[in-house]
Amino acid sequence: MKHVTLALIGAGDRGFAYGKYALDHPDEVRFVAVAEPVAVRRDRFAAAQGIAAENRFADWRDLLERPPLADAVIVATPDRLHVPPAVAALEAGYDVLLEKPMANTLPECVALVHAAQRTGRSLQVCHVLRYSDFFNQVYRIVQSGRLGELVTVEHRENVAYYHMAHSFVRGNWRRQDESSPMILAKCCHDLDLLTWIVGERFTRLSSVGSLRHFRANSAPHPDVPPRCTDGCPVEAECPFSAPGIYLERRPWRSIAQGVDRVPYYDFSMERGWPVSVLAHGDMRPEAIRHALETGPYGRCVYHCDNDVVDHQVVSMQTESGTSVTLTMHGHSHEEGRTLRLDGTRATLEGRFNHSQNVIMVHDHLAGRTETVYPLGTHIVHGGGDAGLMQAFVQGLREGIRSPLTSAEAALDSHLLAFAAEQARLDGTVIDVAAYRAAALGGPGA
Ligand SMILES: NC(=O)c1ccc[n+]([C@@H]2O[C@H](COP(=O)([O-])OP(=O)(O)OC[C@H]3O[C@@H](n4cnc5c(N)ncnc54)[C@H](O)[C@@H]3O)[C@@H](O)[C@H]2O)c1
Repeated sequence: MKHVTLALIGAGDRGFAYGKYALDHPDEVRFVAVAEPVAVRRDRFAAAQGIAAENRFADWRDLLERPPLADAVIVATPDRLHVPPAVAALEAGYDVLLEKPMANTLPECVALVHAAQRTGRSLQVCHVLRYSDFFNQVYRIVQSGRLGELVTVEHRENVAYYHMAHSFVRGNWRRQDESSPMILAKCCHDLDLLTWIVGERFTRLSSVGSLRHFRANSAPHPDVPPRCTDGCPVEAECPFSAPGIYLERRPWRSIAQGVDRVPYYDFSMERGWPVSVLAHGDMRPEAIRHALETGPYGRCVYHCDNDVVDHQVVSMQTESGTSVTLTMHGHSHEEGRTLRLDGTRATLEGRFNHSQNVIMVHDHLAGRTETVYPLGTHIVHGGGDAGLMQAFVQGLREGIRSPLTSAEAALDSHLLAFAAEQARLDGTVIDVAAYRAAALGGPGA
């Protein structure tokens, strides 16, 4: 079978996650070029993958202006930098694997789908959870008809309090004008899963939510300084303390017992996330402390320039009348997703957490509960990162385009996220078909 070559645009956290697949499967795939402006990341990725010096670039434009260097390109740049490199790569003749969200605006998402159609290239979006064991099990159980007709679906994206503080208060996804609404940034995966698992189009949608907590008037003390390292009077008792999270790693230690609190949370331990983000992977305490004293991650969570919500609820109805709710919030004790699907013949309950991964099916007639423990859920995205890469690479090797994570499929979930944000802001109920037609430029589109 054909051996696949790849070029990476954006050698950050996600780029390295996909790089791992190539290191684990050298017989299938090899990275032969990289574009990354931060020299230390570029060199680290290039050295690990054995990329020749002439194929290391400081910007995606330098890579793409060359004749094609690989079979496909992975675009793993920050959210606001997805569209130009993805479109340019498609136009340069590459198949593309693009990180989620596809784009920060709906017209740009539509433009990406059009660019793939125009160039005849494959554009896949990194909806890795479709490849996780856990959600595959849920999908298969629903498809088998074992639950009967689906009546209600309740899905929760429980963002851990330290992840919320790291990404959506202090970090890259804190402001809508620099990234996107949180319901898109955090939940396009969840809306994608719901679209896939429920298997029907949604007809109506409404949403509520707000930035409830991470604002100046929620500060627990009148004298909290702009940075946690500036002598904060309540630092020791604040769950969001930057030294507590990044230096002491309190979220991963039980303060009371001094033992590991979340033993399943191995991927963060292994890769050092989120601490690794602060000083380009330099994990020395002095480098982390310097980053806290000078960079964005040392700021008090009550004195940041964040404006994205910290909770949002989306209610949707399908064509056949199933009611679906998605609750997203950033105040969870641990990271993970929980769900409950009630059908006319059985109820499914699922927990996709770092500490517990379980699916239970309660059969109405038999009065019996079957507990299903999917395999591999203790690794990154429940095995989804590797599963996605395997499918992408296999598609390139065999010349097959997987519809599972195509840009067209991703557009459906992204569209729901933009509709949810509009519904939240306007207090309206959205007619999804009309919203879709307007976005795509015509009725029934
Ligand atoms: N699929 C998932 O489950 C998942 C999970 C987390 C993040 N993401 C998404 O992945 C993307 C990357 O996230 P990350 O956490 O790796 O971010 P990151 O900041 O660690 O990495 C992005 C990299 O892109 C580089 N970059 C910036 N400008 C560039 C340019 N002109 N040319 C080439 N590279 C450039 C940055 O220097 C950085 O190293 C984001 O869109 C994020 O939302 C997806």
